[in-house]
Parts: sequence; C-alpha cells; structure tokens
Amino acid sequence: MSTKSNIIIVYGGTGYYGRKVVQRLTQKGEAVRVVSRNRENAVEILGENVDIFQGDVTNHQTIVKSLQNVSTVIICLSAMSNKLIRKMEQIEHDAVITIMAEAKRLNISRLIYMSGYEMREQLLNDLKIPEFGEIKIKIEKQISESDFNWTILGDAPAFEIFFAFIRNGKMAVPGGGLNAIPCISADDVGEITAQAALRDDLNGQRLKLTGPEAFTFPKAAERIASISGKTINHMAIPLLVINIVSFCLLPFAPFVRFLYKSLKMLNNFPSDLADNVPNDHKILRDLFIYKPVTLEMETTKRVNNGLL
Ligand SMILES: NC(=O)c1ccc[n+]([C@@H]2O[C@H](COP(=O)([O-])OP(=O)(O)OC[C@H]3O[C@@H](n4cnc5c(N)ncnc54)[C@H](OP(=O)(O)O)[C@@H]3O)[C@@H](O)[C@H]2O)c1
Repeated sequence: MSTKSNIIIVYGGTGYYGRKVVQRLTQKGEAVRVVSRNRENAVEILGENVDIFQGDVTNHQTIVKSLQNVSTVIICLSAMSNKLIRKMEQIEHDAVITIMAEAKRLNISRLIYMSGYEMREQLLNDLKIPEFGEIKIKIEKQISESDFNWTILGDAPAFEIFFAFIRNGKMAVPGGGLNAIPCISADDVGEITAQAALRDDLNGQRLKLTGPEAFTFPKAAERIASISGKTINHMAIPLLVINIVSFCLLPFAPFVRFLYKSLKMLNNFPSDLADNVPNDHKILRDLFIYKPVTLEMETTKRVNNGLL
C-alpha cells in the first residue's frame, strides 16, 4: 500500500463512472487508491498504476485501513445490480456514513459524492417510488450539513442508456421514454469529477453533470440512426407489463423491481429539469476545462468499434 499522504481514494473506482474518474486522475499524475472486493478484476480494469485495496465497504476495518494517508475521498459506490440489490442499505448508506465518520476522525477534509441528477422527494412520493431515491436524499442531507469541504455531483444517466435498448434495428423502450432526459458520456463524468476532486473552491456546491442536450428515446433513436446510417425504429412496451413481471419476480429477483422503478422515474422525468439542461451544461463548461462528448461522437465511436 502507498504511504504518501496525498492519496485520493475512490470507493466504487472499478464501476462504470468510477473507473473513468480513476483513469483521469492517474493521467493527471495523482496517487489513487481504489477499494474493490476483487483485486484481480480491479487490476484488469484499472491497470497497475492504481493502489488497489481489496476489501468490502460493509466491513468497518476495510474503511478504517483504506483511509490511511488519504487527502480526498470520492464516493461512487452503487448496489444497482442483481447480486447487490439486497445489500443496498449497507453499501450505499451505512458504509458511506462510516466512511464520513472515519474520514472526519482522520481530518480528511475533501469529499466528493456522486448522486442522481436531482433527487426530488415529492416527485418520488407522487410516483409511489420513494425508496428509489431515499438513500441518496439522506446521504446528501448528511453531507450538506457536515463541515467537510464537499461537492455533490448529480450525475445524468450515461449515453449507454439509449444503446442498451437497441436490438436488431429496434429501440424497444418500456413506457416509451417520451419525456426528455439529461444524458452524459462516462468520459465527461470522469474528467469533471477528477477536476472537481483536485479543486478546493467548489465547497458546498451541488453540480448537475449532463451533456449538452436532453433527449427523449425516440429523438435519440432518430439521431443514432442518422449518424450510424442504420435503421433504428423506436417502439414502446407498456410499462404495466414490466410492473407485473417485476412484481411476480420480487421474491427471486428484486433487482427487476428496482429497474421498473427507475423506468417509471425516467418516463416521468420533470420537463423543467430537461428544459434546463443547456444551462446546467453551460455551468460545467464555465467551471471545468474539457471538450464534451456528444451523442453523435458516442455513436460514431460505437460504429467504429463495431458495437452498433
Ligand atoms: N451509471 C449511470 O448511468 C449513473 C447514472 C446516474 C447516477 N449514477 C451514480 O453514479 C454512481 C456510480 O454508479 P455506477 O453505475 O458507476 O456504479 P457501478 O458500475 O454499478 O459500480 C459499482 C461500484 O461499487 C463498488 N461496490 C459495490 N459494492 C461494494 C462493496 N460492498 N464493497 C466495495 N465496493 C463495492 C463496486 O466495486 P467492486 O465490484 O470492484 O467491488 C463498483 O466499483 C452511483 O452513485 C450512481 O447512482 C450512475
């Protein structure tokens, strides 16, 4: 383990967004430590230049030991998978509270927390899916009331969300996805988060991380088709079908129920938030030095890599 005292620790550093953060930090020459349950897998994802601390954040000692010689904490943990969903409270809530307590004890001041784009309690209650956001809302409250030098990053979904629904020339979307949503490339999340972690002047700020444009699923299908030259027909699958299936699967596969809730959220995404995407994006452009990736660029990359 590295003994320098300026280490940036990334909890969730092997994840979809976390690995991009780690990549950008190491490119900038920073000493980075990542906590992962599987060292071999972490090395495969991140390479040899990262200090991998093998451990599970639900274990108190993992947190205590991993925080030694750390100056900055970045939290991008997620339990959004079939295997982890039953431990969501322990991973996304209890472990984060422990990380904060131990970081405080060690006088670590800088804290970056990845959250959802904007967590609206009232909307989640109205949609009858309060549990979809309640952990993040609780953690954000704890952080904003703390005396850390903190920055909360409200991440939009990755562009991946559009490509994930495309199969054989069809984009089949539960609920249709007719509300525009913000979206961003994982590379931009990595770059912005890395720059934010290295700055001291973003204390007490909550930033929304989005690309330049909000898209409905039909509009994304149209744009991806026109860039790739492939036929992509948008289709709506009734959300009720997913509701029923996810309910039946609840005892065996609770993750499907969580997916249903996220789809419900996407299909009811507030229009005022989508309308404000260009402004939120401009705030990022003014604050950070980077060249944003657009849906066009992401599509071209996928075509060139044979992924579309
Ligand atoms: N992906 C998106 O489109 C998106 C959209 C909006 C917001 N976000 C937010 O961004 C953050 C990161 O999400 P993500 O999609 O990048 O996550 P992800 O790909 O699912 O990765 C989850 C990470 O959490 C780590 N982890 C889970 N349980 C752990 C445990 N018990 N001990 C140690 N590490 C553990 C995993 O590490 P190991 O497997 O190596 O142990 C992995 O690095 C979350 O706050 C999420 O809500 C993501």
